[in-house]
Amino acid sequence: MKDDTTPHWDARYAGSALDRLSWFEAVPERSLSLIRGAVSPGAAVIDVGGGASRLPDALLEAGFRDLTVLDLSAEALALSKARLGPRGKNVDWQVADVTSWQPPRPYDLWHDRAVFHFLTGRDARAAYLARMVKALAPGGTAILMTFADDGPETCSGLPVRRYAPDAMTDVIAALAPGAFRPEASGRFTHVTPAGGEQRFQYSVFTRV
Ligand SMILES: C[S@@+](CC[C@H](N)C(=O)[O-])C[C@H]1O[C@@H](n2cnc3c(N)ncnc32)[C@H](O)[C@@H]1O
Repeated sequence: MKDDTTPHWDARYAGSALDRLSWFEAVPERSLSLIRGAVSPGAAVIDVGGGASRLPDALLEAGFRDLTVLDLSAEALALSKARLGPRGKNVDWQVADVTSWQPPRPYDLWHDRAVFHFLTGRDARAAYLARMVKALAPGGTAILMTFADDGPETCSGLPVRRYAPDAMTDVIAALAPGAFRPEASGRFTHVTPAGGEQRFQYSVFTRV
């Protein structure tokens, strides 16, 4: 079942130049560096709520070939498909709500930049994490980036739940007990195209 924010996201992607959206990054350097630190280019990588991010472009450039991008917004995925052209022919594009999606296969790495923080209800967070548990192969890596506890209270006009890095570990331990081992975490600042600063946290976990 589609989340009821699908029309919001489709309208955001259809109604604005991509490089004006607050979450835009020309080169997703932090994501790329965390992914390359965790897996080799032979790994199966899924970008959850990947939108029209340039992460698949960067991963293809780095030699990755087994890529899946999942998002609620068909508009967002169409932008990435068009941008990548033939380079993206083997990317698996999945239009889905991650909280009700059924993982069709195992993945080695789950990447989420600015999606989990939209899940303001406990049931939605539990549903998301149940998918993450099911999707990741044992030994697989989860990278979750959200607004930090000192970050904005909304993202794209929608309310978010903010996390200190430790709080991210706590929520995963509470809702997916025993499934993940924390590996690394930290804080960073994203500078929006308009020049605003947004404080983020990132957390890396291993599927046990
Ligand atoms: C702030 S944007 C970030 C996009 C991308 N991760 C990036 O860094 O450019 C949030 C994205 O999450 C997607 N999204 C929100 N809720 C979702 C859900 N429940 N399932 C799948 N995608 C979702 C939106 O469509 C949007 O593309």
